[in-house]
Amino acid sequence: MKMRKSLLTAVIGTALTFGINASSYAATTLKLSHNHTRDHAVHKAMDAMAKEVRKTTDGEVRIRIYPDAQLGSQRESMELLQNGALQMVKTNAAELEAFAPAYSAFNMPYLFRDQAHFYATQEGEIGEDILESSRKSGFIGLTYYDAGARSFYTTKPINTPADLKGMKVRVQPSPSAIAMVKALGGSPTPLAYGELYTALQQGVVDAAENNIPSYGMSRHSEVSKYFTLDEHTMVPDVLVISTNAFDGLSEDHQKAVKTAALNSMQLMKTLWAESEKEERAKAEKIGVKFVEVDKASFVTAVQPMYDDVKKNNAKLATLIERIQAVK
Ligand code: GCU
Repeated sequence: MKMRKSLLTAVIGTALTFGINASSYAATTLKLSHNHTRDHAVHKAMDAMAKEVRKTTDGEVRIRIYPDAQLGSQRESMELLQNGALQMVKTNAAELEAFAPAYSAFNMPYLFRDQAHFYATQEGEIGEDILESSRKSGFIGLTYYDAGARSFYTTKPINTPADLKGMKVRVQPSPSAIAMVKALGGSPTPLAYGELYTALQQGVVDAAENNIPSYGMSRHSEVSKYFTLDEHTMVPDVLVISTNAFDGLSEDHQKAVKTAALNSMQLMKTLWAESEKEERAKAEKIGVKFVEVDKASFVTAVQPMYDDVKKNNAKLATLIERIQAVK
């Protein structure tokens, strides 16, 4: 995705003055980039957060949201954040893996028993540890947002991993996602989200995987009519802020931002559930078939990923064990 030059210049221009306009009168503006539309549940949740911050800081801290990857893909936005040109990014655990390895835990297939296990992990000590783990890389996580479960979609049902054989499957630029599709027998093709509709339409890739709202709202449902409910991963969206921007706020303002972020995470749970229902109904209306599957063969096929982590990555293995032990 090409960044809009003028907008980018504007962002960088303001970034240069960020920090020196922090007199007690001037408002601090935090620019937030993400790759979904304004109708998406996560945009609505973050919009509520921005309104709350403005209110609780008497307008002294403002969050300006740039949706639709206007400022670039998730990866490009993270790079802008690390350069100081942006202060906040909503990305997800899959792409954060390249910036902070602890997020890999969230990308392990069939790790979470159910939604309650997933919520308890992200809202507990482990979730907070992972959000804090990236401080050295110049950013910290503020909160997670529910992004449901991810499943495969293409032009036929995927009843067992054997059906993925020989298929080019789009994955996020994430080593775990690549390893997972390989373990399931497909050929992983990393692509940015914004490039996927055309790639599916033109047959550059045969299949993809995502949650139901992203599948519907990005209109992938127009070109891939079978959505198989294999639910291989529960990859949360994550809101991050640069440490420079966060540490530059007063303690009260830091609290206001963190509180509003956590409140928006709770709001997101309701928005997400509604969105999943709504987008599924819309997809069914245009002829999409949702396919129920026995997950056992998928679970078995990804076991080598766990063996590999045990053998080669003691830190991640411990984190996975901690997650498995969460009640
Ligand atoms: C989800 C997620 C995005 C991510 C996208 C993808 O929609 O919310 O953050 O970019 O998946 O598959 O790339």
